[in-house]
Amino acid sequence: MNIILLGPPGAGKGTQARILEESRGMVQLSTGDMLRAARTSGTEMGKIVADVMDRGDLVTDEIVIGLIEEKLNGDHAGGFIFDGFPRTLAQADALGDLLAKHGTKLDAVIAMEVNDDALVSRITARSTCGACGEVYNDLTKPQPADGKCSNCGASDFRRRADDNEESLRQRLMEYYKKTSPLIGYYHAKGDLQWVPGLGEIDEVSAAIAEILG
Ligand code: AP5
Repeated sequence: MNIILLGPPGAGKGTQARILEESRGMVQLSTGDMLRAARTSGTEMGKIVADVMDRGDLVTDEIVIGLIEEKLNGDHAGGFIFDGFPRTLAQADALGDLLAKHGTKLDAVIAMEVNDDALVSRITARSTCGACGEVYNDLTKPQPADGKCSNCGASDFRRRADDNEESLRQRLMEYYKKTSPLIGYYHAKGDLQWVPGLGEIDEVSAAIAEILG
């Protein structure tokens, strides 16, 4: 099964993708995570994308489609969760073509509905384990009191450079201008399903599980 988690920054895509990975043996493909790995690797591509990401702009279609294409060549027995990809109509078309090339297709596009106020508060309170990627939140899922990640035991909590109000405003603008048209695109294809993203993490997971069966 291949699904897209679609929603604005902070909607909870990464949180739900990790839960789906554990519960269903699917593979999370987050273009945000891939780009963050590229920027710390010191490669030419990493240098190009670092400024773009910090400003809250979108990286070029060519770069992100190339990253996804590479990953689709790997094992996909359990199916993929596309998290943060596609973000433009060109990326959506490319994903359809790539999946067809691999003899597979999308099974569902899950759109997560969250209001902008909740997004600001979620993003500015977020931290992540630098070792395993477990996501925390000062308000709803605080870092463990012993200072060790509850998933892997590491003590390397980080905050993202683009998790500030200025970058977030630009990320939201990019979402509404370039990504939200995908809602109509996938609705027209009959793939779109909505879940309320404002509930507790478990409630959102249950709503997604009901859709996926
Ligand atoms: P990316 O890393 O994809 O960031 P994003 O889309 O802005 O999404 P986030 O990771 O910020 O949020 P999320 O929805 O995953 O929320 P999370 O689960 O962490 O992209 C970053 C940048 O890379 C882009 O700006 C762009 O520059 C570039 N990029 C990436 N993909 C690209 C592409 N395809 N094309 C072009 N450029 C691209 O949750 C957020 C917080 O809320 C956490 O603290 C979490 O604990 C908490 N939380 C989650 N769910 C709940 C809940 N139900 N209730 C309460 N709190 C919750």
